[in-house]
Formats: sequence, structure tokens, C-alpha cells
Amino acid sequence: MAKEQPKDQGPQRIGDILDRLGPSLLPPESAIPKEALYDCELCQDVGWIETPPLSRQWRQCLCRLPKRVRHLLPAKFHTATLNDFPSEFIDKIKAWLAKPGDGLFLTGPTGSGKSHLAAAIIRELVFAKREVRFLELAVFFRRFREATLESPKLENLFLEDLFALPWLALDDIGAGGLSDYENRTLLDLIDSRMNKLHPTIATSNWSLQDIAHRMDDRIASRLGAFVRFEFPAGDRRVSG
Ligand SMILES: Nc1ncnc2c1ncn2[C@@H]1O[C@H](COP(=O)(O)OP(=O)(O)OP(=O)(O)O)[C@@H](O)[C@H]1O
Ligand SMILES: [Mg+2]
Ligand SMILES: [Zn+2]
Repeated sequence: MAKEQPKDQGPQRIGDILDRLGPSLLPPESAIPKEALYDCELCQDVGWIETPPLSRQWRQCLCRLPKRVRHLLPAKFHTATLNDFPSEFIDKIKAWLAKPGDGLFLTGPTGSGKSHLAAAIIRELVFAKREVRFLELAVFFRRFREATLESPKLENLFLEDLFALPWLALDDIGAGGLSDYENRTLLDLIDSRMNKLHPTIATSNWSLQDIAHRMDDRIASRLGAFVRFEFPAGDRRVSG
């Protein structure tokens, strides 16, 4: 004869209780406003939108662009925008963006806002869906040295990538002291980009004469062909 099951199953597991209660505690998904479910209603946080629907053609959602800006720029420039500058600056930069030629050379004393402006231009280009990169030159050459030690082939890969990039910012030319070989690499980088008609934004607190004397007169000569923008003295890092 089968043994009778005890009626009382004992204390239930907390998981079982929640399983039974859970669904009734949550509103049905259809009742949750879309803006509460997703940061981006357009793509539901996927980052891509199929346009037109069911076409199997995808375009990036606008919500990716601020993330891309943060990925490209050093943290201190994440919020830099052209609106941080006086309207005459903005007009000049917009005119340059419309007709960039070989590039833009931002020069002026330390702390005057050159990197901030270069970062703001990068933001502008990202929002115009352009392919861009922002390189702090000293950091770039440190990585370049490490890569070339690992494998000489990486050197070419590194550079080919930058030659092909439609827009590139080189921040702080002259900082950190480059070897002769690195100066030649920089010259090659600027030259190759000019040949491909890919504009470069360069910042430096050295004048063209300083660059000619302390680095390489051929680098100075290339930068001399860029649209020049001189920052007035005044260190924004120093308060008061
Ligand atoms: N227009 C601006 N509005 C708000 N903050 C600014 C602006 N310009 C510069 N800054 C801030 O001031 C500080 C100095 O600016 P930045 O780093 O661009 O100077 P720099 O000219 O590149 O100096 P360095 O030659 O030493 O590299 C930064 O923290 C920057 O974010
Ligand atoms: Mg700077
Ligand atoms: Zn989105």
C-alpha cells in the first residue's frame, strides 16, 4: 500500500514564493512606457535601425554618436563643444570645415584652449558621421614604439590606418621630444595625408618657426600650408 504523502510540504523555498508572486508584482510589458524600458526609444538600445523596416539595411542610430565621442576623446574633453567658444571662433571653424584644404593648425600658449577646440571639432565631425580620430601625439608615439618593438610589420599597419583616415587630429606637436626617426614618421604621416586630400587638425604651443628649428623644417613647411588659427595668450587652467 502506497504511503500517504504528508499534507504539509514544510516551509516553501523563497524562490518558489517569488516565482508565484513575481509575475503579478510586475506590470505587463505592454503597460510600461517605452521610455522607461529603453534609454533610446528609436533603436531600443541596439544602436542600429533597420531602414526601411524589414529591408535588411541598417543604419546607425543617433544614440551611438555621443558614445562614439566619448570613445574617441580623452575624458577631460568629453563635453567640449564649439558652443564653448565665441561666435567668431565658431564662424571660422565652420568655414574651415566647409573647405578644409590640407588641414587646420591651432597654435598658441599653453592652456589657451587648443586641445579643447580640436576636441570640439572632433565632436562636430562625429555628429556629421565622419570617420575621425584624436591622437595625443606623445601617447601615439609611445604606443608606436611599443608596437614596433613587438613587430616591425605593425609599424606599417599603424601608419596605413592613419593615412587612410578621412579626418585626424594630432594633439600637441612638439610635446615630449621626438627622435629623428619619429620626426620623419610624423612628416610622412602629414605628407601622405595631404597627398590623399585627407585633412589633419594639428595643435601645438610652438610657432612654425619653433617647429622648424626644434623639430624639422619640412614639418613646419607642411603645417604652413594649413589654415592657421592663433590663440591669444591666457591660460584657462589658471583661475583668477
Ligand atoms: N572654451 C572653453 N570653454 C571651457 N573650457 C575650456 C575652453 N577652452 C579650454 N578649456 C579648458 O581649459 C583647460 C585648458 O585647455 P586646453 O587643454 O585645450 O589648452 P591647450 O591650449 O591645449 O594647452 P596645452 O598647450 O598645454 O596643451 C582644459 O581643461 C580645457 O577643457
Ligand atoms: Mg593641449
Ligand atoms: Zn538608439
